[in-house]
Amino acid sequence: MSTPAVKQQAHEKKRLLSGMQPTGPGALHLGNLEGALRTWVRLQDEYEMYCFIADWHSLTTRYQDTAAIGPACREVAADYIAAGLDPNKCAIFLQSHVKEHAELQLLLGMITPVGWLERVPTYKEKRDLLQERGEGDESVSYGLLGYPVLQAADILVYRAHSVPVGRDQAAHLEMSRELARRFNRLYGDTFPEPQALIMEDTGVIPGIDGRKMSKSYGNAIYIRDDADTVARKVKEAFTTPSKMRKSDPGVPEKCAVCQLRKLYDPTGYSASWEEDRQGLRGCMQNKAELTEILNDMLNPMRVRRAELLADPAELDRILTHGAEKARETAEATMAIVRKAMHF
Ligand code: AMP
Ligand code: TRP
Repeated sequence: MSTPAVKQQAHEKKRLLSGMQPTGPGALHLGNLEGALRTWVRLQDEYEMYCFIADWHSLTTRYQDTAAIGPACREVAADYIAAGLDPNKCAIFLQSHVKEHAELQLLLGMITPVGWLERVPTYKEKRDLLQERGEGDESVSYGLLGYPVLQAADILVYRAHSVPVGRDQAAHLEMSRELARRFNRLYGDTFPEPQALIMEDTGVIPGIDGRKMSKSYGNAIYIRDDADTVARKVKEAFTTPSKMRKSDPGVPEKCAVCQLRKLYDPTGYSASWEEDRQGLRGCMQNKAELTEILNDMLNPMRVRRAELLADPAELDRILTHGAEKARETAEATMAIVRKAMHF
Protein backbone atom coordinates (compact mmCIF):
# COMPACT_ATOMS: atom_id res chain seq x y z
CA MET A 1 0.00 0.00 0.00
CA SER A 2 1.69 3.12 -1.20
CA THR A 3 0.10 6.54 -1.50
CA PRO A 4 1.09 8.47 -4.65
CA ALA A 5 2.38 11.34 -2.52
CA VAL A 6 5.22 9.29 -1.08
CA LYS A 7 6.34 7.27 -4.10
CA GLN A 8 9.78 7.88 -5.43
CA GLN A 9 9.74 9.40 -8.89
CA ALA A 10 11.57 7.28 -11.45
CA HIS A 11 13.77 10.17 -12.52
CA GLU A 12 14.81 11.08 -9.00
CA LYS A 13 18.23 10.16 -7.71
CA LYS A 14 18.30 7.75 -4.82
CA ARG A 15 18.73 9.45 -1.50
CA LEU A 16 21.64 8.63 0.78
CA LEU A 17 22.32 9.87 4.26
CA SER A 18 25.11 9.40 6.74
CA GLY A 19 26.70 11.14 9.66
CA MET A 20 29.25 11.02 12.42
CA GLN A 21 29.29 12.15 15.98
CA PRO A 22 31.65 14.98 16.93
CA THR A 23 33.23 12.92 19.70
CA GLY A 24 36.29 14.11 21.63
CA PRO A 25 38.01 17.03 19.92
CA GLY A 26 35.96 16.25 16.81
CA ALA A 27 38.80 15.87 14.33
CA LEU A 28 38.64 12.75 12.16
CA HIS A 29 41.37 10.16 11.69
CA LEU A 30 42.54 7.85 8.91
CA GLY A 31 40.05 5.18 10.04
CA ASN A 32 37.16 7.62 9.56
CA LEU A 33 38.67 8.77 6.28
CA GLU A 34 39.13 5.31 4.76
CA GLY A 35 36.21 3.59 6.49
CA ALA A 36 33.61 6.24 5.76
CA LEU A 37 34.49 9.58 4.18
CA ARG A 38 36.07 8.29 0.99
CA THR A 39 32.98 6.24 0.26
CA TRP A 40 30.73 9.22 0.83
CA VAL A 41 32.86 11.30 -1.51
CA ARG A 42 32.59 8.61 -4.17
CA LEU A 43 28.80 8.40 -3.78
CA GLN A 44 28.03 12.11 -3.85
CA ASP A 45 28.08 12.26 -7.67
CA GLU A 46 25.61 9.46 -8.09
CA TYR A 47 23.16 10.11 -5.28
CA GLU A 48 21.29 12.84 -3.55
CA MET A 49 23.50 12.94 -0.46
CA TYR A 50 23.03 14.27 3.05
CA CYS A 51 26.08 14.20 5.31
CA PHE A 52 25.49 15.58 8.76
CA ILE A 53 27.19 15.96 12.10
CA ALA A 54 25.29 14.30 14.92
CA ASP A 55 25.81 16.94 17.59
CA TRP A 56 22.67 16.05 19.57
CA HIS A 57 23.79 12.43 19.63
CA SER A 58 27.04 13.45 21.26
CA LEU A 59 25.00 14.66 24.27
CA THR A 60 24.26 11.02 25.12
CA THR A 61 27.78 10.76 26.51
CA ARG A 62 28.98 14.34 27.02
CA TYR A 63 26.06 16.32 28.35
CA GLN A 64 28.30 17.88 31.03
CA ASP A 65 30.63 19.36 28.45
CA THR A 66 28.44 21.13 25.90
CA ALA A 67 30.76 24.09 25.29
CA ALA A 68 33.19 21.80 23.47
CA ILE A 69 30.60 20.44 21.02
CA GLY A 70 30.45 23.52 18.76
CA PRO A 71 34.20 23.65 18.07
CA ALA A 72 34.25 19.87 17.60
CA CYS A 73 31.51 20.20 14.95
CA ARG A 74 33.61 22.74 13.05
CA GLU A 75 36.52 20.31 13.04
CA VAL A 76 34.34 17.55 11.63
CA ALA A 77 32.82 19.84 9.00
CA ALA A 78 36.29 20.99 7.91
CA ASP A 79 37.42 17.35 7.68
CA TYR A 80 34.36 16.38 5.62
CA ILE A 81 35.08 19.12 3.09
CA ALA A 82 38.87 18.66 3.12
CA ALA A 83 38.33 14.97 2.34
CA GLY A 84 36.38 15.95 -0.76
CA LEU A 85 32.72 16.28 0.18
CA ASP A 86 31.47 19.11 -1.99
CA PRO A 87 28.88 21.40 -0.36
CA ASN A 88 27.45 22.07 -3.82
CA LYS A 89 26.73 18.41 -4.39
CA CYS A 90 25.88 17.18 -0.95
CA ALA A 91 24.12 18.81 2.00
CA ILE A 92 26.60 19.21 4.85
CA PHE A 93 24.93 20.33 8.06
CA LEU A 94 24.50 20.00 11.80
CA GLN A 95 21.71 17.83 13.16
CA SER A 96 20.76 20.53 15.66
CA HIS A 97 20.12 23.01 12.83
CA VAL A 98 17.25 20.93 11.46
CA LYS A 99 14.62 20.75 14.20
CA GLU A 100 12.51 18.29 12.23
CA HIS A 101 14.89 15.54 13.46
CA ALA A 102 13.64 16.28 16.99
CA GLU A 103 9.97 16.33 16.05
CA LEU A 104 10.21 12.99 14.30
CA GLN A 105 12.25 11.55 17.15
CA LEU A 106 9.46 12.49 19.55
CA LEU A 107 6.79 10.87 17.39
CA LEU A 108 8.85 7.72 16.77
CA GLY A 109 9.58 7.53 20.49
CA MET A 110 5.87 7.02 21.11
CA ILE A 111 5.81 3.85 19.03
CA THR A 112 9.15 2.41 20.17
CA PRO A 113 8.92 -0.47 22.65
CA VAL A 114 11.44 0.07 25.46
CA GLY A 115 12.36 -3.61 25.20
CA TRP A 116 13.73 -3.06 21.69
CA LEU A 117 16.01 -0.32 22.96
CA GLU A 118 17.24 -2.27 25.96
CA ARG A 119 18.46 -5.03 23.64
CA VAL A 120 20.63 -2.78 21.43
CA PRO A 121 24.27 -3.91 21.86
CA THR A 122 25.78 -0.39 21.79
CA TYR A 123 23.40 0.66 24.56
CA LYS A 124 24.32 -2.33 26.71
CA GLU A 125 28.04 -1.66 26.20
CA LYS A 126 27.79 2.02 27.09
CA ARG A 127 25.57 1.34 30.08
CA ASP A 128 27.95 -1.32 31.42
CA LEU A 129 30.94 0.94 30.84
CA LEU A 130 29.34 3.80 32.78
CA GLN A 131 28.41 1.46 35.60
CA GLU A 132 31.85 -0.16 35.68
CA ARG A 133 33.37 3.29 36.00
CA GLY A 134 31.18 3.72 39.05
CA GLU A 135 29.31 6.64 37.54
CA GLY A 136 26.09 5.22 38.91
CA ASP A 137 22.56 4.74 37.56
CA GLU A 138 22.05 8.45 37.09
CA SER A 139 24.62 8.55 34.31
CA VAL A 140 22.46 6.27 32.13
CA SER A 141 20.03 8.71 30.61
CA TYR A 142 16.76 8.40 28.75
CA GLY A 143 18.62 10.00 25.83
CA LEU A 144 21.27 7.26 25.83
CA LEU A 145 18.57 4.59 25.75
CA GLY A 146 16.82 6.51 22.98
CA TYR A 147 19.96 6.95 20.85
CA PRO A 148 18.65 4.62 18.10
CA VAL A 149 15.30 6.46 17.96
CA LEU A 150 17.08 9.73 17.20
CA GLN A 151 19.21 7.91 14.65
CA ALA A 152 16.06 6.48 13.02
CA ALA A 153 14.61 10.00 12.91
CA ASP A 154 17.83 11.28 11.28
CA ILE A 155 17.40 8.76 8.50
CA LEU A 156 13.63 8.63 8.08
CA VAL A 157 13.15 12.40 8.11
CA TYR A 158 14.86 12.38 4.69
CA ARG A 159 13.10 9.19 3.63
CA ALA A 160 16.61 7.97 2.77
CA HIS A 161 16.97 4.76 0.77
CA SER A 162 20.48 3.86 1.83
CA VAL A 163 22.79 4.67 4.68
CA PRO A 164 26.52 4.07 4.12
CA VAL A 165 27.93 3.11 7.54
CA GLY A 166 30.46 0.83 9.16
CA ARG A 167 29.46 -2.63 10.37
CA ASP A 168 29.26 -1.28 13.92
CA GLN A 169 26.08 0.55 12.90
CA ALA A 170 24.19 -2.50 11.62
CA ALA A 171 22.05 -2.86 14.76
CA HIS A 172 21.09 0.81 14.67
CA LEU A 173 20.09 0.48 11.03
CA GLU A 174 17.98 -2.56 11.82
CA MET A 175 16.15 -0.49 14.44
CA SER A 176 15.51 2.24 11.87
CA ARG A 177 13.99 -0.34 9.54
CA GLU A 178 11.81 -1.80 12.29
CA LEU A 179 10.56 1.66 13.19
CA ALA A 180 9.83 2.46 9.54
CA ARG A 181 7.82 -0.75 9.25
CA ARG A 182 5.97 -0.13 12.48
CA PHE A 183 5.09 3.43 11.47
CA ASN A 184 3.92 2.27 8.04
CA ARG A 185 1.73 -0.41 9.61
CA LEU A 186 0.14 2.00 12.06
CA TYR A 187 -0.34 5.08 9.87
CA GLY A 188 0.01 3.94 6.26
CA ASP A 189 2.96 3.70 3.92
CA THR A 190 5.17 6.67 4.61
CA PHE A 191 8.80 5.61 4.86
CA PRO A 192 10.96 3.48 2.59
CA GLU A 193 12.90 0.92 4.64
CA PRO A 194 16.43 2.33 4.74
CA GLN A 195 19.10 -0.12 3.60
CA ALA A 196 22.44 -0.24 5.34
CA LEU A 197 25.24 0.09 2.83
CA ILE A 198 27.96 -1.54 4.90
CA MET A 199 31.34 -0.21 3.91
CA GLU A 200 33.81 -2.98 4.47
CA ASP A 201 35.94 -2.98 1.36
CA THR A 202 38.75 -1.20 3.23
CA GLY A 203 38.49 -3.32 6.36
CA VAL A 204 39.59 -2.07 9.74
CA ILE A 205 42.35 0.54 9.64
CA PRO A 206 44.98 -0.18 12.30
CA GLY A 207 46.26 2.52 14.60
CA ILE A 208 49.94 2.97 15.42
CA ASP A 209 49.69 0.29 18.15
CA GLY A 210 48.21 -2.26 15.73
CA ARG A 211 44.75 -2.19 17.31
CA LYS A 212 41.77 -0.67 15.46
CA MET A 213 42.46 3.03 14.94
CA SER A 214 40.17 4.84 17.34
CA LYS A 215 39.90 8.19 19.07
CA SER A 216 39.54 6.44 22.40
CA TYR A 217 42.74 4.34 22.11
CA GLY A 218 45.10 7.29 21.57
CA ASN A 219 46.51 5.45 18.53
CA ALA A 220 45.09 7.59 15.74
CA ILE A 221 46.67 9.66 13.01
CA TYR A 222 44.39 12.61 12.36
CA ILE A 223 43.73 14.41 9.10
CA ARG A 224 44.67 17.58 10.96
CA ASP A 225 48.04 16.31 12.24
CA ASP A 226 50.91 18.34 10.85
CA ALA A 227 53.91 16.74 9.12
CA ASP A 228 56.00 16.58 12.32
CA THR A 229 53.18 15.04 14.32
CA VAL A 230 52.73 12.36 11.67
CA ALA A 231 56.50 11.71 11.71
CA ARG A 232 56.49 11.39 15.50
CA LYS A 233 53.47 9.05 15.57
CA VAL A 234 54.88 6.82 12.84
CA LYS A 235 58.19 6.69 14.72
CA GLU A 236 56.33 5.41 17.79
CA ALA A 237 54.33 2.86 15.81
CA PHE A 238 54.48 -0.86 16.61
CA THR A 239 56.39 -3.05 14.15
CA THR A 240 57.14 -6.78 14.11
CA PRO A 241 57.85 -7.52 17.79
CA SER A 242 60.61 -10.06 17.00
CA LYS A 243 62.45 -7.70 14.62
CA MET A 244 65.13 -6.04 16.73
CA ARG A 245 67.75 -5.42 14.03
CA LYS A 246 67.46 -4.55 10.38
CA SER A 247 68.60 -8.07 9.41
CA ASP A 248 65.87 -9.81 11.46
CA PRO A 249 63.01 -10.98 9.26
CA GLY A 250 59.84 -8.91 9.57
CA VAL A 251 56.24 -10.12 9.47
CA PRO A 252 54.44 -7.37 7.53
CA GLU A 253 51.03 -8.81 8.41
CA LYS A 254 51.79 -8.06 12.07
CA CYS A 255 53.34 -4.66 11.58
CA ALA A 256 51.18 -1.53 11.78
CA VAL A 257 53.63 0.41 9.59
CA CYS A 258 53.53 -2.25 6.85
CA GLN A 259 49.73 -2.39 6.99
CA LEU A 260 49.41 1.36 6.52
CA ARG A 261 52.00 1.19 3.72
CA LYS A 262 49.89 -1.39 1.92
CA LEU A 263 46.85 0.84 2.17
CA TYR A 264 48.52 4.01 0.97
CA ASP A 265 50.99 2.58 -1.51
CA PRO A 266 49.00 -0.18 -3.21
CA THR A 267 51.35 -0.43 -6.18
CA GLY A 268 54.68 -0.13 -4.40
CA TYR A 269 54.19 -1.83 -1.07
CA SER A 270 54.91 -5.42 -2.13
CA ALA A 271 58.61 -4.80 -2.85
CA SER A 272 59.04 -3.21 0.59
CA TRP A 273 57.19 -6.09 2.24
CA GLU A 274 59.46 -8.61 0.51
CA GLU A 275 62.61 -6.81 1.67
CA ASP A 276 61.15 -6.62 5.16
CA ARG A 277 60.50 -10.36 5.22
CA GLN A 278 64.03 -11.09 4.06
CA GLY A 279 65.65 -8.80 6.60
CA LEU A 280 66.90 -6.48 3.87
CA ARG A 281 65.33 -3.36 5.28
CA GLY A 282 64.92 -1.93 8.73
CA CYS A 283 61.94 -0.46 10.51
CA MET A 284 63.49 3.03 10.40
CA GLN A 285 63.46 3.00 6.62
CA ASN A 286 59.88 1.69 6.59
CA LYS A 287 58.83 4.43 8.95
CA ALA A 288 60.59 7.21 7.07
CA GLU A 289 58.98 6.11 3.81
CA LEU A 290 55.52 5.76 5.32
CA THR A 291 55.80 9.22 6.87
CA GLU A 292 56.51 10.67 3.47
CA ILE A 293 53.65 8.79 1.82
CA LEU A 294 51.19 9.88 4.52
CA ASN A 295 52.32 13.48 4.47
CA ASP A 296 52.03 13.68 0.68
CA MET A 297 48.50 12.31 0.91
CA LEU A 298 47.44 14.49 3.82
CA ASN A 299 49.01 17.74 2.76
CA PRO A 300 46.29 19.04 0.41
CA MET A 301 43.64 18.11 2.99
CA ARG A 302 45.50 19.97 5.74
CA VAL A 303 45.72 23.07 3.60
CA ARG A 304 42.01 22.98 2.80
CA ARG A 305 40.89 22.38 6.38
CA ALA A 306 43.15 25.12 7.70
CA GLU A 307 41.64 27.56 5.20
CA LEU A 308 38.15 26.61 6.29
CA LEU A 309 38.88 26.89 9.98
CA ALA A 310 40.57 30.24 9.45
CA ASP A 311 37.39 31.58 7.89
CA PRO A 312 34.53 30.77 10.29
CA ALA A 313 32.10 32.92 8.30
CA GLU A 314 32.65 30.76 5.21
CA LEU A 315 32.22 27.55 7.19
CA ASP A 316 29.03 28.92 8.74
CA ARG A 317 27.74 29.84 5.32
CA ILE A 318 28.34 26.28 4.09
CA LEU A 319 26.61 24.76 7.12
CA THR A 320 23.68 27.19 6.87
CA HIS A 321 23.26 26.41 3.20
CA GLY A 322 23.42 22.67 3.95
CA ALA A 323 20.82 22.99 6.70
CA GLU A 324 18.47 24.93 4.40
CA LYS A 325 18.64 22.23 1.79
CA ALA A 326 18.18 19.51 4.41
CA ARG A 327 15.30 21.35 6.07
CA GLU A 328 13.40 21.58 2.82
CA THR A 329 13.45 17.80 2.43
CA ALA A 330 12.81 17.17 6.13
CA GLU A 331 9.88 19.59 6.19
CA ALA A 332 8.30 17.85 3.18
CA THR A 333 8.54 14.53 5.03
CA MET A 334 7.08 15.99 8.21
CA ALA A 335 4.09 17.34 6.28
CA ILE A 336 3.39 13.77 5.16
CA VAL A 337 3.99 12.39 8.65
CA ARG A 338 1.70 14.90 10.38
CA LYS A 339 -1.04 14.21 7.88
CA ALA A 340 -0.64 10.44 8.26
CA MET A 341 -0.97 10.83 12.04
CA HIS A 342 -3.89 13.28 11.78
CA PHE A 343 -2.13 16.25 13.31
P1 AMP B 1 33.60 6.64 15.00
O1 AMP B 1 34.82 7.52 15.03
O2 AMP B 1 33.81 5.36 15.74
O3 AMP B 1 32.34 7.36 15.34
O4 AMP B 1 33.46 6.15 13.49
C1 AMP B 1 32.75 6.77 12.46
C2 AMP B 1 32.86 5.85 11.26
O5 AMP B 1 34.23 5.80 10.79
C3 AMP B 1 32.51 4.39 11.57
O6 AMP B 1 31.17 4.08 11.37
C4 AMP B 1 33.39 3.60 10.64
O7 AMP B 1 32.75 3.43 9.41
C5 AMP B 1 34.60 4.49 10.42
N1 AMP B 1 35.77 4.03 11.21
C6 AMP B 1 36.15 4.46 12.44
N2 AMP B 1 37.31 3.87 12.83
C7 AMP B 1 37.67 3.05 11.82
C8 AMP B 1 38.80 2.16 11.59
N3 AMP B 1 39.79 2.03 12.47
N4 AMP B 1 38.83 1.47 10.44
C9 AMP B 1 37.85 1.62 9.52
N5 AMP B 1 36.80 2.43 9.66
C10 AMP B 1 36.69 3.14 10.78
N1 TRP C 1 25.56 6.45 15.30
C1 TRP C 1 26.45 6.90 14.25
C2 TRP C 1 27.91 6.64 14.69
O1 TRP C 1 28.18 6.56 15.86
C3 TRP C 1 26.26 8.36 13.94
C4 TRP C 1 24.89 8.63 13.40
C5 TRP C 1 23.88 9.30 14.02
C6 TRP C 1 24.40 8.21 12.13
N2 TRP C 1 22.76 9.34 13.21
C7 TRP C 1 23.05 8.69 12.06
C8 TRP C 1 24.95 7.49 11.07
C9 TRP C 1 22.26 8.43 10.94
C10 TRP C 1 24.16 7.26 9.94
C11 TRP C 1 22.81 7.71 9.90
O2 TRP C 1 28.78 6.56 13.83
